[in-house]
Amino acid sequence: MRQITVALAKGRLAEKTVEILEKCGINCGPLKADTRKLVLFDAENKYRFIFVKPADVPTYIERGAADIGVVGKDTLLEESKDIYEMLDLKFGACKMCVAGFKERKDSITQNNLRVASKYVNVAKDFYASKGVDVDIVKLTGSVELGPVIGLTDVIVDIVESGKTLEANGLVVLEEICRLSARLVVNKVSLKTRKDEIMPLIAKISEVIDKEECK
Ligand code: PRP
Repeated sequence: MRQITVALAKGRLAEKTVEILEKCGINCGPLKADTRKLVLFDAENKYRFIFVKPADVPTYIERGAADIGVVGKDTLLEESKDIYEMLDLKFGACKMCVAGFKERKDSITQNNLRVASKYVNVAKDFYASKGVDVDIVKLTGSVELGPVIGLTDVIVDIVESGKTLEANGLVVLEEICRLSARLVVNKVSLKTRKDEIMPLIAKISEVIDKEECK
């Protein structure tokens, strides 16, 4: 039987995900090696792990190149792929917000507002829901620079500790939604490998509940 393939978002969420999987009884020792390998296996060779850019996790899952994955809700909102979101893993909690200089608070829904974001679709949907026509500028990082440099009026971005905003003289002007890590599953895998995937999800859910009670 081939291994279950697990897609992990490189970066913030991967470390915590591995910690949770270990608590589920999966020996993730080989995943902690200092290596540039992108495909790794657990000690018992039951799982195959692939480390991918967060924005690519939904693509691997939708196309069945991975059976299950862990990714932020921000990415799921932005990518909107045809996959199952099975579990809120609770960690990686942050908020999607409109942010900018506090003087702009009253003008964040004005037409032609210039909005910088890595989350172009999220920003589009948010402003469309308000019936506001905005000029969205796609950036790939350090989005806070938009208002600071005068490229845009505001940003739509994730805020975790709030330190990046604070360090750049910006504030949250409006919260769009709450975010956290989610467990996602390929639709076909859930049908064809249900007996392996469902017990794993149940175990992960149990571990997450225990963590929450701490
Ligand atoms: C994210 C986000 C903010 C920052 C928020 O960027 O886009 O810039 O983190 O975190 P904070 O509220 O704890 O300061 P990331 O660190 O992923 O880097 P990037 O700007 O290169 O995308």
